[in-house]
Amino acid sequence: MLFDPRPKVRREDLYDFNEELKKFTKALDEPMVLVSGLRRTGKTSLILTGLNTSGVSYIYFDLREGARSYADLYKLISRGFTEFTRRWSGLRDHFLRVLSRLRGVSIAGVEVSFSWSSRERPLLIELLDAVNDFAERINRRIVVVFDEMQSIRGAMGTVLQSALAHSYDFNKSVTLILAGSEMGVLYSILQNPGSPLYGRAYVEVRTRKLSYSEAIDFLTKGFAEINVHVSRNEIEDAVRELDGIIGWLTYYGYLRSRSIGGVEQVVREATALAKKELESFLATRVSSRYRAMLKLLAQGVKEWGELKKELERLEKKEISDRVIHDILKELRRHSIVNENNEFTDPIYRRASLEL
Ligand SMILES: Nc1ncnc2c1ncn2[C@@H]1O[C@H](COP(=O)(O)OP(=O)(O)O)[C@@H](O)[C@H]1O
Ligand SMILES: [Mg+2]
Repeated sequence: MLFDPRPKVRREDLYDFNEELKKFTKALDEPMVLVSGLRRTGKTSLILTGLNTSGVSYIYFDLREGARSYADLYKLISRGFTEFTRRWSGLRDHFLRVLSRLRGVSIAGVEVSFSWSSRERPLLIELLDAVNDFAERINRRIVVVFDEMQSIRGAMGTVLQSALAHSYDFNKSVTLILAGSEMGVLYSILQNPGSPLYGRAYVEVRTRKLSYSEAIDFLTKGFAEINVHVSRNEIEDAVRELDGIIGWLTYYGYLRSRSIGGVEQVVREATALAKKELESFLATRVSSRYRAMLKLLAQGVKEWGELKKELERLEKKEISDRVIHDILKELRRHSIVNENNEFTDPIYRRASLEL
């Protein structure tokens, strides 16, 4: 079903993206692949569908929640391993035996968990080495996915990135897939000379917004598939509001087909969701300034001098060019606005008006 709100995993539920899928599948033999694209443009769907259709074995780590400590990080990693062994019944016991040789690993049924205490925990390097050893033994490549990679920052980011660099260099039977929505942050992980992963080559696959006509086609097919009649006018309205962001279009299709709302109500709900995401972005920053800046940009103020003047008026003091520069740069790094200081997602623009 095109309007299933969960990430797609089957080819027949995935709208188009033929080119992206082809490129992704072809890259699965490379040491590292980066899947990048704005939030809700179908990265996770592309990855899972691509992996399922090509029939490779994969371990998937969802890092969205982020990790401030070893406890957080190891819990995320345990979850990925558990899900892998649950899914992969064929060689499960064999794999569990390999894992159980490492220190700090407990196995209960298919449930895998790792100790995070400093004395006991297995190193991430050891875990990835074990995956590679196993892949070599069964003579198959294993793909390891780190989704929303940029969410792991700070000290835990370094721990993770160092382990990946090691795996890249030594584990010939492992393909690493990194994915993320905040392009500037991802590129700094891969291209910054100070980063552990610096200098490693990778293939990049980008997801994109649908064009206007694709978006109309997507909604039309989605509604036809479930026999719900929606007027052409309403579909055009929806695309004008939601742009070609497939996640928002899916959200609209899903709610609309359950008669939970029309365009206006869906836009309201989507905006509330986006607002929550923005609030958590603001929580780790000098938020009043960012808030003001986002509001100004959302009102269409784009020009430097004007932004500066408005911020100074609000804060009742002089603000240096540097401050303005840094805020804009940070918003771009997180893919909230583009090079022209325009919002990448119209729903984020709306949410910013409400901050
Ligand atoms: N090609 C596609 N066809 C149909 N629905 C899609 C497609 N790509 C994404 N979606 C839907 O859009 C939403 C966001 O997709 P997801 O893969 O989670 O995006 P991302 O990982 O980029 O945030 C989900 O509801 C998903 O079902
Ligand atoms: Mg995703």
